[in-house]
Amino acid sequence: MAKSEFGRAKAPGPNAAEAACSDLGTLSRRDVLQLAGGAACFAAVPADTAQAARLPAEEATMASVRLTVNGHTQQLAIDPRQSLLDVLRETLDLTGTKKGCNQGACGACTVLLDGKRVVSCLTLAAMHEGAAVTTIEGLARGDDLHPLQAAFIQHDGLQCGFCTPGQIMSGLGCIAEGHAGSPEEIQFWMSGNICRCGAYPGIVAAVADTAGRP
Ligand code: FES
Ligand code: FES
Repeated sequence: MAKSEFGRAKAPGPNAAEAACSDLGTLSRRDVLQLAGGAACFAAVPADTAQAARLPAEEATMASVRLTVNGHTQQLAIDPRQSLLDVLRETLDLTGTKKGCNQGACGACTVLLDGKRVVSCLTLAAMHEGAAVTTIEGLARGDDLHPLQAAFIQHDGLQCGFCTPGQIMSGLGCIAEGHAGSPEEIQFWMSGNICRCGAYPGIVAAVADTAGRP
């Protein structure tokens, strides 16, 4: 059974690609060629969609979306294909939110959307008219760090720091959800946030410490 980065066992799930590969062993050469032809037809169907996705931003129809980011409400003209992550980093220059995998697997891009944690790389900004977004830049009050930011420093919950904004935003969500009752619970509910440096003990301690605050 696969293990998450927090050492928790991940529930096994259906894996269509593995199933398809294992099936290949039972197919004749004719079956494989027919499958390849089918795949080519399948690939041809969304050609227009693929071409549209390659259009430069200036040729795409722009979308207007109102977002309140860290308390500031703004009306933005964006490419409707832009992820929330790219709007934050490239349109608003809020580069605290990190782009790791850009495919929902690492948690580096975690922000709060209407109070709930989301991976912003898989969130289309244009679909969230009127939403409130909180990023790592919205936590401190001047020189006063948010208690969870301070706890990360106190507990050495980081090394290179690349995953840290996502860990902190996810930690806030974890606490708000009531999923920070024990180290084991925190490990489970934070398992979508990967730390390549392995700072997990400090991360869990920081979240637990903050959750225990009055
Ligand atoms: Fe979004 Fe990895 S960058 S989950
Ligand atoms: Fe380096 Fe987490 S501190 S990836």
